[in-house]
Amino acid sequence: MIKLINPNLLINLKIIRNNIYNMTEKAKNNALVFRPHFKTHQSSAIAELFRDYGIRKATVSSLAMAYYFYKHGWTDLTIALPHNPLESHLMDDFPSQTMIGLLVDHPDTIKNLNQNIKKKRGIWIKIDTGANRCGIPWNDEVHLFQLAKQIKSCPKLHLLGLLSHAGQSYHAKTRETVLSVHQEQIERMAFSKAFLDSVGLSDLIISIGDTPCCSLAEDFKGIDEIRPGNFVFFDVDQLQRQVCQWQQVAMILRCPIIGRYPDRQQLVVHGGAVHLSKDHTLLQDGSKSFGLPVLLEKDSWTNPIMANLSSISQEHGVVSFFNTIDPDLKIGGFIGIMPIHSCLTADLFSTYITTEGKCFPKRRSTDIAFFP
Ligand SMILES: Cc1ncc(COP(=O)(O)O)c(C=O)c1O
Repeated sequence: MIKLINPNLLINLKIIRNNIYNMTEKAKNNALVFRPHFKTHQSSAIAELFRDYGIRKATVSSLAMAYYFYKHGWTDLTIALPHNPLESHLMDDFPSQTMIGLLVDHPDTIKNLNQNIKKKRGIWIKIDTGANRCGIPWNDEVHLFQLAKQIKSCPKLHLLGLLSHAGQSYHAKTRETVLSVHQEQIERMAFSKAFLDSVGLSDLIISIGDTPCCSLAEDFKGIDEIRPGNFVFFDVDQLQRQVCQWQQVAMILRCPIIGRYPDRQQLVVHGGAVHLSKDHTLLQDGSKSFGLPVLLEKDSWTNPIMANLSSISQEHGVVSFFNTIDPDLKIGGFIGIMPIHSCLTADLFSTYITTEGKCFPKRRSTDIAFFP
């Protein structure tokens, strides 16, 4: 087994498998296509675990990420970020039989694609159901009709359906608010779909996906496909809005302890913004948290202990204990930190270490694609 001496990402495969199983069952029970977002783990090895549950379709957030998973045998991918026209010419590097779905919300993007690609590709219209990030507003019938008609008139483009991401669920503080975001989203997608149906554009697939809604909702009426990603690891942010329990959090940062200050009940760890990102949350007492400390066990870790990662700089993290410091936590040892936002923490590393001591390779979002 390799000897780890630096901050490293520890993943628990048993928990990951359980998280994948739960979401796969939810999709099956609701007759939904499950197209998990792979931007959270970005690892060919973790993607393989999804195959064990029959998953063959995935979502990615860039052409480079699509290329990475394509090279690892994934041949049905949706790039769920508005298409970047600078990349249009690269679309033909994927064989025609590889399904690459592209996202659009503007006529110029469609015009560009139609002029610059040779092989036919599937197109999703991005619908804004309230996140106000991108997409055609769900009730903007004029623009929706124009865009759908334009896509239909392009011989190289095949209109697949309508896709939304209810990112506003991340502002919800409770299960109830997540569920009301979900309900609103399915009603708004139904409205857009019914409108296109009424003008003769039928058979469109409806795709939604965010971890809070997909984890908590039981009603998926009118929805054909889900694309959650974060659920594979979960994190403190999802714990706080009761989307998961701490036993479902599958990844922590393992940090060397490099300072011990009993007078102020604090440890200093090698683990800062470059390892965790600067995402933070507020604890019940209003104090800032950059992660929740846990104790490492032989093959796992404990639930969060009575302490908080109260501040971070580039490389350092300060762990403040609510009472005295645990006597087993000594300089030269390790402590675990449950991240606030696992997607951003995972993106900072090129490898995961499993609790069995194996290395799992991964890519990072800033890696660029090299086409043959
Ligand atoms: C378009 C789209 N689909 C799906 C997802 C997955 O959502 P989550 O990270 O909540 O699992 C994201 C996340 O950003 C997204 O942007």
